[in-house]
Formats: sequence, C-alpha cells, structure tokens
Amino acid sequence: MTRTAILGVGHHVPSKVVTNDDLAKLFDTSDEWIQQRTGIKERRFIEKDNTGPSDLAVPAVKMACERAGIDVAEIDAIIFATLSPDFNFPGSGCFLGDKLGLPGVPALDVRNQCSGFLYGLQVADAWIRAGMYRRVALVGGEVHSTGLDFSDAGRDVAVLFGDGAACAILGPTEDTSRCVLDTEIHADGSGAKLLWTEAPASAYIPRITHEMIDDRRVWPAMNGKQVFRWATAKMPEVALSVLERNGVGIDDLALLVPHQANRRINELVAQKLKLPPDKVMHNIMHYGNTTAASIPLALSEAIEQGRAKAGDLLLFAAFGSGFTWGASLVRL
Ligand code: UT7
Repeated sequence: MTRTAILGVGHHVPSKVVTNDDLAKLFDTSDEWIQQRTGIKERRFIEKDNTGPSDLAVPAVKMACERAGIDVAEIDAIIFATLSPDFNFPGSGCFLGDKLGLPGVPALDVRNQCSGFLYGLQVADAWIRAGMYRRVALVGGEVHSTGLDFSDAGRDVAVLFGDGAACAILGPTEDTSRCVLDTEIHADGSGAKLLWTEAPASAYIPRITHEMIDDRRVWPAMNGKQVFRWATAKMPEVALSVLERNGVGIDDLALLVPHQANRRINELVAQKLKLPPDKVMHNIMHYGNTTAASIPLALSEAIEQGRAKAGDLLLFAAFGSGFTWGASLVRL
C-alpha cells in the first residue's frame, strides 16, 4: 500500500533580525510585555523591496530537496500555503514554480492561514496515495512585515508576526511504518471576523477607499482573547481525536511540533494533553508567528537539532484565522 513519506525539510528566513526593543522604538510596547505574553524575543523581516513569500521559499525548497536527496527538477507538484501571497493574484505557487525553473508543474495555493500547512499536507497525502504525483513540494511562506500597523493602534498584532518560509518534500513509500499516518482538519467561519484583514474586499463597491485606509480596516485585526480561548480548546481536541483514531498514546509521541502563535498557547496545549514540556518544540522566540510557515520551520529546526529523528512519532497541531484548525500524526 502506498503511503506518503516526508523525504526532506528545509527553511529560510530573511537575515534582518528585529528585536522587541526595536519595535518598542516604533510604538508603545516593551520587551517585557512581549516576552511575558507571547514568548517572542525577536523575529525576521525582509530587508529589500519586492521580496515576496515565493522569494523566501526558493532557498527553503532547495534546502528541502538537498536533504531529500532529490533534484529540484524532480518536483512534480507545488502546494503553497500562505495568507500573505506575493500579489492578489496569481498565487505564490505560480511565482515559485517560475523561480525554480519548473514550467508546467501544477501549483496550488492554499489559503488557510496558520493551518495552511496541515490543509496542504492532507491534499498532498491524498495526491500521493492516489499515485498522481511523486515529488510534492509543500511550502509554507509568509511576508507579514509589509502588512502590519506599526503604530500604537496596531501593537497587539504587530508584535506577533514574522517573515519566513519552509518546505517539506513529500513522496510515496511502501513503508507503512514511516509515513504520514493521519491528518484531521476543520473550519468554523463563525469566527472569521475575529482574526482577519477586511480590505481591500471584493465584496465592497469599491473594494478600497481612502476612508477604509484612514479607519485602519486594511490592517490585520484580532480579538486576541477569543483566539487564545479557541486555540487552547481546539488544538488539544483535534490532537486527541487523531491520537485516539490511530490507537496512539501520549507516551508514544517523540515530539509535538505545534503552530507557533504564542508560547503560552502551546504550553497550555501540552498541559491539556499531559505531554511533558521537553516533548514540545518551540522556536517562536526567534521567529514570532510565521503562520503557514511555522510548522515546517519548527520541524526543519527540530530535525537539525536532533529533536526529531528518523522513526520518531510526531504530532503537528495548528489553530488560526478562519477559524481553521487541525492535527497530523507522522512517523518520520
Ligand atoms: O496564529 C493565530 C493567531 N493569533 C493568536 O493565536 C493570538 C492569540 N492571542 C494571544 O496570543 C494573546 O491574546 C495576545 C498575546 C495577543 C495578547 O495577550 P493578552 O494577555 O490576551 O492581552 P490583552 O489583549 O488582554 O491586553 C492586555 C493589555 C491591554 O491593556 P489594558 O487594557 O489592560 O490596559 C492591551 O492594551 O496589554 C495591552 N497591550 C499591549 N501592551 C504592550 C496589547 N498589546 C500590547 C503590546 N505591548 N504590544
């Protein structure tokens, strides 16, 4: 029976480090507040104009291919998860395919925010198991820094996000013990406006006005407390559902690689799952929330650091705008 294996993982972040103190020079915040509430110490921002998520993804894909032992030219499908596409349209996957020199290779953009990597993983897994593709580049990539309100009014959101990209190369395997075992995803649009960017909007005539800009409706807006509550309820719920369906106990897990939105959220999720703190991957300290890129970025670093090894049982879990959430169980 054909299953899907993670053949290699790579990541890339821009070189510009932005510390909490750097942000405190732009608006009313402090290193102490940010670290205490979120665990974030610094994040990366793009340095040059005209650098989109697809640009950050190019070195991430190359690193993932090298680690997978394949040539970039072998990629036969791209899935690009992002909430900050390079342009309104076409999707970032098309730009990435062009930059990698892959004319004709299909490119699907996934717009499921912080859960985008897990949505993409379920699609890629189905494609591969159906025998449609053999080398899928599943990418999460974001450039948030050009879309944040660096004023006092936007401080609750602006401190959270960072830029980055990561990629997993997925391919078929006959080894049913080392593969993507299961992925469960969900959405509930009743929470859509609790974390969103409203304008420009196709729903409005016209899509954008000077008033919308003046009223700050072009920046991401979030009800942090509600998102926090939902995240700490839904991530453990979906994680337990996947574990139970696969007959896996908490003790069997080598590592939880969660979406990195807030260190406190992930600590609470681990507590609810009764998972020891040393079995949770955190790298939000260095990158902030990179939405769709955060799980593959954390996975790439976990592998580099020897915290996730061949044969280890890993659990991914995410929650984000939509609302969307999900979990995956993978034997590396
Ligand atoms: O990927 C999914 C996306 N997002 C998330 O998962 C985020 C989920 N939510 C959170 O992580 C937290 O709600 C936050 C970190 C965003 C905020 O933490 P909180 O403990 O919920 O703080 P709060 O929003 O209740 O704000 C507490 C205080 C307020 O002041 P007052 O009203 O108590 O005087 C805020 O105005 O902190 C103030 N505040 C800030 N102070 C300094 C809000 N943002 C900042 C800031 N710096 N950046």
